[in-house]
Amino acid sequence: MIALSLVFGVMAVIPIGGADMPVVISLLNSYSGLAACAAGFAVNNNILIVAGALVGASGIILTQIMCKAMNRSLANVLFSGFGSGKVETTKVEGEIKPISVEDAFYVLEAATTVAIIPGYGMAVAQAQHVVKELAVLLEKNGAEVSFGIHPVAGRMPGHMNVLLAEADVPYDQLLEMDEINPRMEQVDVAIVIGANDVVNPAARENEGSPIYGMPVINVDQARTVFVLKRSMASGFAGIENPLFYKDNTRMLFGDAKESIAGLVREFA
Ligand code: TAP
Repeated sequence: MIALSLVFGVMAVIPIGGADMPVVISLLNSYSGLAACAAGFAVNNNILIVAGALVGASGIILTQIMCKAMNRSLANVLFSGFGSGKVETTKVEGEIKPISVEDAFYVLEAATTVAIIPGYGMAVAQAQHVVKELAVLLEKNGAEVSFGIHPVAGRMPGHMNVLLAEADVPYDQLLEMDEINPRMEQVDVAIVIGANDVVNPAARENEGSPIYGMPVINVDQARTVFVLKRSMASGFAGIENPLFYKDNTRMLFGDAKESIAGLVREFA
């Protein structure tokens, strides 16, 4: 039985893409709770039954939340690659408009409302501490600063919350997607730091897109958008992002930590 379970476990998990792993870990966590619960019944132990049921239920709820935020079913996560069956159909038209740190600083200096939207790239660059410094400087300059947190930004649940908490960003500045989206039209500058899929307007606008229907943070509705990333490479979903070609978008190319540190130096 042990050997068979080992083989089954390895075979079930091997085909799953690395970035889908948090969903699977959460599901397996939930199974471990259910197993503990069943063991509780077998040995007649109430604590095991209650604790196992709690772990089982919370694991399945978290799994469900992650799948919903990616607009995918659990079966799709477990049994197929990303967006299988749907291939991107439209080619994005438009022009990329790069901006320098100095020019970005002039725009930010004049902004009264700034929304910061972090993603996986902020984690890669470990930019959370400089991001906090920039937020403090912007506030000192009279701007209202908030952070828009997408439920599946990064690569694990609560990834952005953990990083920003590590940098001591006040909790009341963190707004969930549903809270920040209605305010987006009033935002002067939205700074997208290493996020890609979670701000992709194709999820709203392009029915042919593999991520069509996935809820995203509508940064394209802000007056100006700065996107901080190193290249035009795609994100986890491997698809084009029309946000980068919009009239109000400026690309600030480079490592997120270095770009933000440059902005901080301009303010200081
Ligand atoms: P992604 O779409 O993966 O985009 C990350 C972007 O960060 C990339 O486009 C990359 O562009 C940029 N980047 C990487 N290193 C950087 C650096 N050092 N400096 C600046 N930019 C950098 O990230 P996202 O928007 O956070 O979306 C998360 C994705 O993961 C979603 O598709 C989601 O469905 C998936 N996912 C999330 C979870 C959880 S629970 N969070 C679980 C499974 C899957 P460059 O290479 O050009 O720099």
